[in-house]
Amino acid sequence: MCGIVGYVGSQQPNGRPLEVVLGGLRRLEYRGYDSAGVALTGTGDGKLAVTKKAGKLVNLIEALDLDPLPASTAAIGHTRWATHGGPTDVNAHPHVVGKVAVIHNGIVENFVALKAELLAAGTTFTSETDTEVVAHLLARAYDVHGDLTAALTAVVQRLQGTFTLLAVHADVPDVVVGARHDSPLVVGLGDGENFLGSDVSAFIAQTKDALELDQDQVVTITPTSVVVTDFAGGPAQGRRYTVDWDAAAAEKGGFRSFMDKEIHDQPKAVADTLLGRTDLAGHLVLDDLRIDESVLRSIDKIIVIACGTAAYAGHVAKYAIEHWCRIPVEVELAHEFRYRDPVVNEKTLVVAISQSGETMDTLMAVRHAREQGAKVLAIVNTHGSTIPRESDAVLYTHAGPEIAVASTKAFLAQITAAYLLGLYLAQLRGNKFPDEISAILDELRLMPAKIQLVLDRAGRVREIARWMADTTSVLFLGRHVGFPVAMEGALKLKELAYIHAEGFAAGELKHGPIALIEPGQPVFVIVPSPRGRDSLHSKVVSNIQEIRARGARTLVIAEDGDEAVRPFADEVFYVPQSPVLLAPLLTVVPLQLFACELATARGLDVDQPRNLAKSVTVE
Ligand code: M6R
Repeated sequence: MCGIVGYVGSQQPNGRPLEVVLGGLRRLEYRGYDSAGVALTGTGDGKLAVTKKAGKLVNLIEALDLDPLPASTAAIGHTRWATHGGPTDVNAHPHVVGKVAVIHNGIVENFVALKAELLAAGTTFTSETDTEVVAHLLARAYDVHGDLTAALTAVVQRLQGTFTLLAVHADVPDVVVGARHDSPLVVGLGDGENFLGSDVSAFIAQTKDALELDQDQVVTITPTSVVVTDFAGGPAQGRRYTVDWDAAAAEKGGFRSFMDKEIHDQPKAVADTLLGRTDLAGHLVLDDLRIDESVLRSIDKIIVIACGTAAYAGHVAKYAIEHWCRIPVEVELAHEFRYRDPVVNEKTLVVAISQSGETMDTLMAVRHAREQGAKVLAIVNTHGSTIPRESDAVLYTHAGPEIAVASTKAFLAQITAAYLLGLYLAQLRGNKFPDEISAILDELRLMPAKIQLVLDRAGRVREIARWMADTTSVLFLGRHVGFPVAMEGALKLKELAYIHAEGFAAGELKHGPIALIEPGQPVFVIVPSPRGRDSLHSKVVSNIQEIRARGARTLVIAEDGDEAVRPFADEVFYVPQSPVLLAPLLTVVPLQLFACELATARGLDVDQPRNLAKSVTVE
């Protein structure tokens, strides 16, 4: 989704505005984009210097004259993920009208009506974007108000939809203005310079001092000031905080790709998510609980809403929370939940899971749930994002920034946080004795080391993935918690390697999917522990035999010591022993490695798969 950077700092070295903005855009590449552009003010000729190009940042950089970096006082930069109008040079941002340049993340839903009004007044449009409407409105408003903040405040009052907007004007080269409505924008505070960004990655190399803005606020930055107002022009305030990510955390750290790095970050992501979750009395605590505990004691249903990988984390959570808390748990894709008439009331706890905290489908479902009287608890990775702010309680995952589009470490951290939530509810509602909860927590604390062991054994799965680079279809089977792991394994392969892949509940095989099995068809099977419910293990072993008998090539993920699977497996990837409910933290890892390696072997960019955005901020 679009990335936004703004910078102002007139006393700084000449080329700093462009340098900072290009660095910010590079760190925001993970959001996914298809064109990029920058606008500079204070270049000495009283005009804006605007360059924009379709394609990757390298195209923009080639089009800029960087030797030497041009002198300027402020800059805005944008990576665009096309919504209205294709990814072309003309549709790329910034959009310029006269002396005004605008960049935008989101969708102006009433742009057709606004465009008609402007066309009727004789305005000529050059692009197909909704954003150009904003640029025209802003140029006109500036002529009326003679002040960029007042002009932007007047314009946002006319817009419907979702937006983060940044704007500059050639006549006020020391000013960048921004506004947000249902779309992210944060401020970075510097010394003689200030920053704006879609998230802190935009300016993390320059400052860790940040200001969180609320919805419907306008911000004006100059080299020495940051002024926040509301959409009516009245005074408002942001919340100052210190960013605890460092710039290195947003880099590849020596791995071939961000995804590879993030797969290897997983022991730490799980360990960090478990850290500091108990009070002095040893009781589990949540981060930000704005729900009365008596309400949590009285809930009679949990609905997990999420999208993609986060939804699969929710499916895993269902097994654990129902088992530990004896509360029914439904898991639903947020976009489906939002547009039906779900049975939700004040006794329903809705759990929204999101890495970015900005996924529009999930945000809309959160709002819908709260309108129906439900309490919403968010499990989110990104501080300062919208979903936790609009929820009644928050449990942050501590996976650190996830840059690769394909979610890996966030998935493990989401599962870990959901387990913590389940144990918290079991503690609160008295479903488990304290020593039972402690025993599960002890097992959870062993998981980072076990995940590391799986990573240490990555060689064989990578080797098999390279051999299979030309495969055209892979199936994934699992039962119980292995079922969502199978679906996640399939999703990883689809989104990274563009291969047909499907995950099935192994018990469903005989109801149709077994017809897909033909000689040589690769099938991953996630086998539950033989130390768990024995019938489950033997049922899956029977499923392996059934597909093997029909010629499938069986790639089995099993627990250390499980010799029963060997006779029916073409390949076994062993993972350390763990309690059945915790096993997804281990069994998904070989599938992530497999997808990453196979896609790399096919020459694909695993960090930015085609057609995908990291954070999907439109419905
Ligand atoms: O930021 P979120 O967790 O809300 O994102 C949800 C999905 O868009 C995301 O998990 C997506 O499915 C990933 N690309 C999968 O790897």
